[in-house]
Amino acid sequence: MNSHNLISDDVKLGNDVRLSSFINLYGCEIGDQTKIGAFVEIQKNARVGKSCKISSHTFICEGVTIEDNVFIGHGVMFINDTYPRATTTEGKSQTETDWKVEGTVIKKGASIGSGATILSNVTIGENAIVGAGSVVTKDVPADSIVAGNPAKVVRFIHQQADKSGASANIPFLDLVTPHLELEAELTEAFRVALHTAGFVGGPVVDQFEKAFAYFCTVSHAVAVSSGTDALRFAIMACGVQAGEVVLTVPNTFIATTEAISQAGALPEFIEIDEHTYNLSVEMLQMYLEKQCSRDKSGRLISQRSGRPVTAVVPVHLYGQMADMDGVLDLAQQYGLTVIEDACQAHGAEVFSRKHNRWMKAGSMGRAAAFSFYPGKNLGACGEGGAVTTNDAEVAAKIKLLRDHGQVTKYNHEVEGYNGRLDAIQAGLLNAKLPHLPKWNAQRRERAEQYGRFLDKTTAITLPYEPAWSRAVYHLYVIRTCARRGLMNQLQAAGIGTALHYPIPLHLQKAYLSMNYHVGDFPVAERVASEILSLPMFPQLTAQQQFRVAEEILTFTSRSLSQGTQVDLNASLPSKITA
Ligand SMILES: Cc1ncc(COP(=O)(O)O)c(C=O)c1O
Repeated sequence: MNSHNLISDDVKLGNDVRLSSFINLYGCEIGDQTKIGAFVEIQKNARVGKSCKISSHTFICEGVTIEDNVFIGHGVMFINDTYPRATTTEGKSQTETDWKVEGTVIKKGASIGSGATILSNVTIGENAIVGAGSVVTKDVPADSIVAGNPAKVVRFIHQQADKSGASANIPFLDLVTPHLELEAELTEAFRVALHTAGFVGGPVVDQFEKAFAYFCTVSHAVAVSSGTDALRFAIMACGVQAGEVVLTVPNTFIATTEAISQAGALPEFIEIDEHTYNLSVEMLQMYLEKQCSRDKSGRLISQRSGRPVTAVVPVHLYGQMADMDGVLDLAQQYGLTVIEDACQAHGAEVFSRKHNRWMKAGSMGRAAAFSFYPGKNLGACGEGGAVTTNDAEVAAKIKLLRDHGQVTKYNHEVEGYNGRLDAIQAGLLNAKLPHLPKWNAQRRERAEQYGRFLDKTTAITLPYEPAWSRAVYHLYVIRTCARRGLMNQLQAAGIGTALHYPIPLHLQKAYLSMNYHVGDFPVAERVASEILSLPMFPQLTAQQQFRVAEEILTFTSRSLSQGTQVDLNASLPSKITA
């Protein structure tokens, strides 16, 4: 060891650590065979793993963890405080008790180029490379190369990527991995059902209902056999009568309108918002003001159908909340019942101006419907659904409706349905529900990552999340007027995509008798012709997202340079005739 080094007694030095000169180490831990260059300072509670190389003039502060085999170039600066101050608010010099260390983790095998600055609270992924002089402000994905200020992903390390399957196909949705990850817990749910022969209803279903109600911050959740049943039962239980009009959007899955029709009501459509693709509050207001009138008894009557308008079903499409404040205000003003279609929005939140807090999807309407179809954010291994509500009467009615109208065995108060959730699905959902917050957070991270990768082009429109919404990205839907070409390119590259939904409901053959026409909902029609759903699931890797983005950027730059901005193949259905 060199006599110019200052190594305090509390330093834990591993075997065969090689130190150059003018090094200052205190309270830190250095792993075996690590080399440290001249003029390096490593502070207390910093940890450096085995076989690392720390080049000269680097400063490693308290709270930094460097795993094994990491290369740190010359003059790398770590920072452990987002808002450093010299003095307290009272003007006294700060002491250690006045601030909290914000840690940084450099995962094994990563390399940090000379002169890089690494801000606090970031994780640099395994084998990632940070370019010289970069300023790292956010987490760096494993195997990526980042550069610049702020550092952005430039590309991924392909030799290693190929080993991990980076050139393999990227599915639109991976449903296998999450089930394998939870295999033991899921299998246990089957075992419990087999051992107790409790297949329909019973304590496992009760347990799920309680847990899901708690998750949605409501007092009741009633489990049923599908999202469609949930919505149909909710509409019926909320007192919508046969022949009444229920308003909804034209760009949803047909189950929304099936549920309305099958509850005996008549769907009518309201135009959507161009940015959120959800119900437009302005258009709802316009409809209520201009396309309805009052009859002698003061009931709101649709001029289109001559029927009373009594309810509205906002759909939280793609996991993005509808503007509930606006919808609820209008509903109150016009006496409409609000029933949320939250089938794609488990855990999404909206900021309620009225309550001055974030509120969960499914907690704002009189009732709400959820689907547990396997691909949903919370999916069963078969069919399933639930109604959430704070109204005990509505909950009780749904319990009747789902079980042949029985109050007790063979005592039928009304004619009901066979719409129960089976206990195996409830057991599986019980096992999955605790993971939902993490999965939703991962979906949000994936959405942000797509945003970072794709913000280089203006040829596509990315999903828009208003400040009052926290979406859960059931789907990640972009818009492009060159959709067919882009889909083809992604398909040729082995990347799965889908369309949600290519033909708006008012133009579906099934609804010909409603007598809507092309042009009735220009925004919904344009959006339907331009949307494209990209791969989105919690286990999607940054590397896979980078490949998706690379294909999109290649396509958009080529089509821009060729001036082909118009989708030659995506014409709207003109009028659909029987
Ligand atoms: C918006 C919307 N509503 C209703 C449903 C119906 O749910 P389920 O398929 O469970 O019947 C779905 C399911 O895809 C949906 O996406």
